[in-house]
Amino acid sequence: MDKILILDFGSQYTQLIARRVRELKVYSEIHPYRMPLAEIRAFQPTALILSGSPSSIYQADAPKPDPGILDLGLPVLGICYGLCVLADLSGGEVSRAARREYGPAELLVDRGEDLFAGLPEQVSVWMSHGDKVDKLPGCFQVLAHTANSAYAAFRDRQRPFYGVQFHPEVVHTPLGKEILGNFLFRVAGCRPTWTMKSFVESSIERIRAQVGGGRVLCGLSGGVDSSVAAVLVHRAIGERLTCVFVDNGLLRRNEAAEVVETFGRHLGLNLVHVDASQRFLRRLAGVTDPEQKRKIIGAEFIEVFEAEARRLGRIDFLAQGTLYPDVIESVSVKGPSVTIKTHHNVGGLPEKMGFRLVEPLRELFKDEVREVGRELGLPDVILWRQPFPGPGLAVRCLSDITAERLDLLRRADVIVEEEIRAAGLYQEIWQAFAVLLPIQTVGVMGDERTYEQVIAVRAVHSQDGMTADWVRLPYEVLARMSSRIANEVKGINRVVYDVSSKPPSTIEWE
Ligand code: XMP
Repeated sequence: MDKILILDFGSQYTQLIARRVRELKVYSEIHPYRMPLAEIRAFQPTALILSGSPSSIYQADAPKPDPGILDLGLPVLGICYGLCVLADLSGGEVSRAARREYGPAELLVDRGEDLFAGLPEQVSVWMSHGDKVDKLPGCFQVLAHTANSAYAAFRDRQRPFYGVQFHPEVVHTPLGKEILGNFLFRVAGCRPTWTMKSFVESSIERIRAQVGGGRVLCGLSGGVDSSVAAVLVHRAIGERLTCVFVDNGLLRRNEAAEVVETFGRHLGLNLVHVDASQRFLRRLAGVTDPEQKRKIIGAEFIEVFEAEARRLGRIDFLAQGTLYPDVIESVSVKGPSVTIKTHHNVGGLPEKMGFRLVEPLRELFKDEVREVGRELGLPDVILWRQPFPGPGLAVRCLSDITAERLDLLRRADVIVEEEIRAAGLYQEIWQAFAVLLPIQTVGVMGDERTYEQVIAVRAVHSQDGMTADWVRLPYEVLARMSSRIANEVKGINRVVYDVSSKPPSTIEWE
């Protein structure tokens, strides 16, 4: 199988390079720029891509790879800072540009060959750089220029080395995928064989090899990641996988029943459904502080999960739905530590119970996980489920949590979801939900004065939950939600819409 090694110099776009390459059906992995040469050789890449960087190559502490990467006989594509690295390693000169170039630019193609084969003579590209190559090493030849950059793309005359000043990986370079494709297929001779079907087949083999005759436990939350991980492991080892689904009493309406129906009955997984709702609610009684709620829920979850694991007898592995973005060193230029999310609040459990980890999705991005799920026959309601926080409705039922208040919140939440779905907006929205506020307000219903509770509706667009903007929902959708909630949920007489972005707010209210 062809593999592309992307050396990361810290650009905010590095993950996008990996995604585009994979979309072209070639497998790619991101590693820090200082990956030792021996490891690069052992990885056996078909070609290298050097990413961009916030640094400048002429700075004293500029990140530089082992110069030996150019002697491996591999095709190399340098993007932005990666282009400077290529020029620098080959004896060129780079300096700060008189005019920095951020945003769209028109690339004029001088040689419509290899990298630019099949492209028009003028191509819109996205620039984001403050440096420029002043002197091109003698071995290089210009492929394209812009009004501001004489060397916007170049290649080595002898060796398959290419540099582009612009970013082909971003959507603002509309033909970027063709340019990357030309590098992969024309220059590096890759074949587009990496598909989700091939991924599923090879993962099954790998899981079987890793687990041997062992037994695996998986905490199933009903979210996309743990669901796909569970079904994949089940495909590999069948009955030797046991899934534990903990109902903490803080789930949305019908969620527990849906998980049991889908995974237990429909997909035939070995599913242990632990109804621990009373236990969680007892512990949460009278607790109003958000962080306190989270701590209690986290600790309780581990206790319940651990008790189930012990009850099941010998377990060797814990399967987790860790994804690639959780694994990649977020700023791999700065430190070697790999940050992995403590998934589904089972933090510390693997070490404590001596489990080894099975993480079949560690190489995938979220949308690839959905494709794997589809390949495995998971229904759309699971695959397209919006993210739901571990502490569940506890952080949306502001202040005190009681069974009655949770019931009010659930009934309003269902209406929000139904209306978002009816408007065809469910998939494009990151999260949409109801929040029950800890106040009462005055209203009037059929000549009578009421003094009842308030529901806030929150809907946000986001890429990763780190930043978010509120969704400009059509007034008609808001109007229907509002009137349905006030009419159908007894105890609510007012509905407000949250128009805060993150920052300065957060997505959840607690
Ligand atoms: P905030 O509210 O911090 O949320 O803007 C960002 C994203 O994370 C989810 N979230 C959580 N997920 N445990 C989780 O598993 C938590 O304690 C938690 N708090 C927030 C939130 O739903 C959003 O997608």
